[in-house]
Amino acid sequence: MTRVEVIGNATLYLGDCREILPTLPKVDAVITDPPYGILNLAGAGSTPAVRKSPRQQSSGVLKNRLLNRSDVRWDVAPSADALALLFAAAPLQIIWGGNYFALPPTRAMLVWDKEQPWENFSQVELAWTNLSRPAAIFRESATRGTPGKEHPTQKPLSLMRWCVALAKGCNSIVDPYMGSGTTGVAAVELGRNFIGCEVDPAYFDIACRRIEDAQRQGRLIA
Ligand SMILES: C[S@@+](CC[C@H](N)C(=O)[O-])C[C@H]1O[C@@H](n2cnc3c(N)ncnc32)[C@H](O)[C@@H]1O
Repeated sequence: MTRVEVIGNATLYLGDCREILPTLPKVDAVITDPPYGILNLAGAGSTPAVRKSPRQQSSGVLKNRLLNRSDVRWDVAPSADALALLFAAAPLQIIWGGNYFALPPTRAMLVWDKEQPWENFSQVELAWTNLSRPAAIFRESATRGTPGKEHPTQKPLSLMRWCVALAKGCNSIVDPYMGSGTTGVAAVELGRNFIGCEVDPAYFDIACRRIEDAQRQGRLIA
């Protein structure tokens, strides 16, 4: 059964977003970072994008050392049906990893420049959006941007704050694949209502804690 945590203006669901999304009211924006479906291919080595990193070579798969976990079963890219659920949830979409999914042409791609010089690792990540604006770039080091990283594909908070700020006038935001809750922290910090879904109980608990901390911090500042 789905667990629901209400933390201030955030409502977090532990469960499969494909079951939860159709039950939710429509919101203003989807800002999300679904699994790209490339970690499971890490052993294939067929393209530079899926070649093993030194960390993967030693453990076989990408390992979240903090949680001492080495499974990437969650890394399954959303199907066409799951993408359709995202589009039904809100008029505005910011979808990280959009270059891996079957999405229509758009001018408003977002580029995260990870400021890392090694060409055998991805130097940028791309978000598909239907924003009405030109393509844009955000620079933030992948390592310096995620101090105390708790999810193997955690996004920098500064990057997700930028995304939330780009969603001008969007007071309610859903992240159906919230992982450690970075979108939720950014949304809460910028005073937006947030709904998040996460299927993995360990990452769900991390998201609950981070979003609760962000709310508490906001109250302290107020
Ligand atoms: C790329 S990660 C998101 C990381 C996040 N941006 C962060 O900063 O921590 C995608 C997350 O989606 C979750 N996930 C995968 N399939 C899901 C589904 N059907 N419903 C809900 N969550 C899902 C995975 O467990 C994983 O934590």
